[in-house]
Amino acid sequence: MLRIAGLNQYYGGSHILRDVGLHVEEGRCNCLMGRNGMGKTTLLKCIMGLLPVAGGTIRFHGEDISTLPAQQRARLGIGYVPQGREIFSQLTVEENLRVPLAGRRARSIPARVYELFPVLKAMARRRGGDLSGGQQQQLAIGRALVLDPEILLLDEPNEGIQPNIVREISAVIRRLNREEGLTILLVEQKLPFARATADCFNIMNNGRNVAHGAMGELDDTLIRDHLTV
Ligand SMILES: Nc1ncnc2c1ncn2[C@@H]1O[C@H](COP(=O)(O)OP(=O)(O)O)[C@@H](O)[C@H]1O
Ligand SMILES: [Mg+2]
Repeated sequence: MLRIAGLNQYYGGSHILRDVGLHVEEGRCNCLMGRNGMGKTTLLKCIMGLLPVAGGTIRFHGEDISTLPAQQRARLGIGYVPQGREIFSQLTVEENLRVPLAGRRARSIPARVYELFPVLKAMARRRGGDLSGGQQQQLAIGRALVLDPEILLLDEPNEGIQPNIVREISAVIRRLNREEGLTILLVEQKLPFARATADCFNIMNNGRNVAHGAMGELDDTLIRDHLTV
């Protein structure tokens, strides 16, 4: 479904992504792992079209989307939940959920979003900034689902969130993937969560995709070399 090849990216003079290749097959939950600063967030932003790339291809259903603006990629079916959530704290929950609908003809927030996250219904008129970290994360995921994506890019959804909400969010991610068939590319550093949620992995090291395989092939050597601090 998503096939990246030879992708390079620079921040000014710093060469961050180096010839990255990555495949995400339809229906899978693919976990992108690696220590801090290795380029995981940069890669997701490049896929979403939020950062320009310096060569390489990003194919979605076979079409190279690497020069399309982010909005167009969203329309094609790519959803994105940024690291740190980036919700609008001055807007209400409902207004946050309507942001992706701007400029589209009369569409409403799908009932499914509230069904997945009942708390968003209960708090629809509260400001985003009044929500707890976990509720904001649920809002960020809900917002990404408003346009009914085919693939969801999730950047460390459990970072800095209380354990009880981590469990809820994990259950939703698994449900979306396993019951609703949503393809997922998940950036996750916590091994137990990655193992329970994803069926395959890729590991980033200094801007390169250095290893990939089925989750069961993530062995102690890979964990020691690339994941433990
Ligand atoms: N806006 C930026 N300007 C310059 N360098 C950046 C910027 N954002 C990230 N970087 C650098 O790019 C590298 C990869 O960062 P990032 O993609 O955020 O890594 P990860 O998500 O794996 O922690 C890091 O060395 C980081 O310092
Ligand atoms: Mg990151």
